[in-house]
Amino acid sequence: MMGTLQHSTAAGPPAPNPGATAPGRVEPKLKISRLNFFYGAFQALHHVELEIAANRITALIGPSGCGKSTFLRVLNRMHETVRGARVSGEVLLDNEDALAMDVSRLRRRVGMVFQKPNPFPKSIFDNVAYGLRVNGLKGSAHLKEAVEHSLRRAALWDEVKDKLHKSAYDLSGGQQQRLCIARGLAVDPEVLLLDEPSSALDPIATAKIEELVFHLKENCTIVIVTHNMQQAARIADDTGFFLLGKLIEFDKTETIFKNPAKKETEDYITGRFG
Ligand SMILES: Nc1ncnc2c1ncn2[C@@H]1O[C@H](COP(=O)(O)OP(=O)(O)OP(=O)(O)O)[C@@H](O)[C@H]1O
Ligand SMILES: [Mg+2]
Repeated sequence: MMGTLQHSTAAGPPAPNPGATAPGRVEPKLKISRLNFFYGAFQALHHVELEIAANRITALIGPSGCGKSTFLRVLNRMHETVRGARVSGEVLLDNEDALAMDVSRLRRRVGMVFQKPNPFPKSIFDNVAYGLRVNGLKGSAHLKEAVEHSLRRAALWDEVKDKLHKSAYDLSGGQQQRLCIARGLAVDPEVLLLDEPSSALDPIATAKIEELVFHLKENCTIVIVTHNMQQAARIADDTGFFLLGKLIEFDKTETIFKNPAKKETEDYITGRFG
């Protein structure tokens, strides 16, 4: 993995901010600057600065209520439906202003999968085909091919290929979550945001999701929120630690878990938090 981000280290001088990068680096896929977020009068995110590298898995960890989901939602502007929500600062997607671009275009480029699987009340096939149809893909052969491709990418094809026209609700929780991932992948997003995608799943289903996410990074940039620190340690290249709406530390996953620069991070990962 080429080092595209300069990470602060415990040994070196403190970085001016956790997202600082070295000159001559590759442009990040997502660049978040001075991000503040408010639910009415309550400030849920404080001056978040973070650069997310392309084709990597970035994990976001931190205690409940620290703003991880809020942060993730801002990245594809899911907050815009929340009354009284307000954002300031900058989110650049390949150097384009993500907060100002056409929102459907943004969501085609940045997909999202939620904690609780939320398949549509449709067949397995129609769930995956949904976004393709919305984007105007026609012709049953094309659709079939694209649906199969997405289900394969989501490691679900073998389990559902004989029942594509059954209801999505007939699937197990883990299968429903992979279906939601397939649905998200169908429109070929550049970034996939996953908010605790395996928190409700058993260890086998969790392992499947992890393996699938791991392979997705070849073609996609992944940002995953997880409460499971082993999961972050297993799959993420980079990890960010949030506390009370602030990004306390962002670094290579190994550094965060083995040699964090900040005491708050260390307290959290060693279970001393709270
Ligand atoms: N729709 C909302 N309206 C008002 N406040 C909200 C709303 N959603 C979240 N909050 C508040 O914003 C803060 C951050 O919430 P968020 O859901 O982002 O946390 P989180 O880190 O994802 O937590 P968890 O790990 O429990 O999912 C919390 O204090 C929460 O109460
Ligand atoms: Mg959350």
